[in-house]
Parts: sequence; structure tokens; C-alpha cells
Amino acid sequence: MKQLPTQICRWHPYPDALSLFAQATDAVTRLARQALEQRGTFHVVLAGGNTPRSLYEKLRAVETDWSAWHIYYGDERCLPPGDAERNSFMADEAWLNHVAIPRPQIHPIPAERGAIEAARDYAALLREVDAFDLVLLGLGEDGHTASLFPGHDWGIGPETPAVLAVHAAPKPPPERVSLSAWRLSRARQVIFLVTGAAKRRALADWHDGKPIPARAITPPDGVDIWIERDAMPA
Ligand code: 6PG
Repeated sequence: MKQLPTQICRWHPYPDALSLFAQATDAVTRLARQALEQRGTFHVVLAGGNTPRSLYEKLRAVETDWSAWHIYYGDERCLPPGDAERNSFMADEAWLNHVAIPRPQIHPIPAERGAIEAARDYAALLREVDAFDLVLLGLGEDGHTASLFPGHDWGIGPETPAVLAVHAAPKPPPERVSLSAWRLSRARQVIFLVTGAAKRRALADWHDGKPIPARAITPPDGVDIWIERDAMPA
């Protein structure tokens, strides 16, 4: 395994999911306001899976200049557009269909083209994008994040592609597309959102310094790991 760069971690425990997502909504809103003040735009990468749904639903009510927001995805499942299991479907239903972000500024990964072609096309899109202002990520029970899975290529060095085609993923569907670890790390802020007792083992491994995929996300200013009490290792 390639030597992982050093990861700076800040652990933030919350008593319950309600308080975690209320605080996360405030944090995203604050980061957006800062980005708009400093650069006039806010480039955010969305996490997939189910965990962030509550955050996305709360973001509907945020007072902000939606016209300055640009939405990207950390990963996507190779399923037809409109398939309810797509990460972009959940984000649209929970949030993006309800706010006035211009559609040309919402960039779903074209995973319906197949992993290899979609990874190539999304990497071309990201060549026009500098560091992300915010990357939101989840954590799988095996320590995966986005679609970077144990035993697979995580794309650590900048010489690797910015976007990876993922085959034989252990979490269905087997064909996926994922931003690489180095591209997810090219960010001003990275927040992991982790809830549920099923994530305890992965968090314990992470805290013990084991080389899980989440450890490969190494932005210059470190990562913030927001954890609901149920998910906290004993
Ligand atoms: C996916 C996600 C994946 C997810 C974790 C956690 O496509 O499945 O990108 O990385 O964030 O598996 O999933 P839950 O939030 O559903 O537990």
C-alpha cells in the first residue's frame, strides 16, 4: 500500500442526529456565506448514501444567494438517470429540486455512461474547478468514503486520475464512479458526517490510525469528523 500522507483529524461528537444536522446546516450556511464574500461563488461536493439526507432537507430553508452555488458529487452509482438509488436522485429530491441553484451549476456525475466514460468526462469537467470550498463525505462500515473501498485504488497521488472508475465495489451497485482521494483532498474544508452504531467499528479503526480509505482524505487544513453519539466507539 502506498504510504498515506498525514491526516489532521478533528473529532466532533454530538448527542444525537438532530443536533448534528442542525449544526451541520449552520456550518454549511456559514461556509457558503464566507465563500460568497471572499470569492463570489461556493463550490461544494455532496456526499452520497443516506446519512446526509437530513442535512439536505434542512438546507432547503437556508437564506442565501443560490445563484452563486455550484454542486458536485463525490461519487455516483452506475445506474440510469432518475434511478432512486442514485446519489444525485436523493440530493435532488431532498434539496436541489426545491432551491434556485441554476441547473447548469449542478453537476451530477454522468454515471449512466458507464464507469470508465463517466470518470473521464467528469475529470474533464473538474479541470475547470480549483479547490472545492467544501467537501461533504460519509463513512461506510468498512471504512470506505465516496466510492473508495478497501483493496481498491484510492487515487492518492496527484499523478492519478482526478476521477476513478470503480469496478466490483463491495457495496452495490458494483460499478461506480468516484472522485479520487487527492481530488477530494483539494478542498478548503472537508466534513465527514457519521451516524449510527453500524459505523462504530470503522470509526474505531480510523481513530486507531488503521489505513481505511477515509484516512486517505488529507486536505491541507485537515478534516472535521462529525459523529452522532450512537456511532461513537465504546
Ligand atoms: C454511496 C456513498 C457512500 C456512503 C457510505 C455511507 O454511494 O454509497 O457515497 O460512500 O457515503 O457508504 O452510506 P450511508 O450514509 O447510507 O450509511
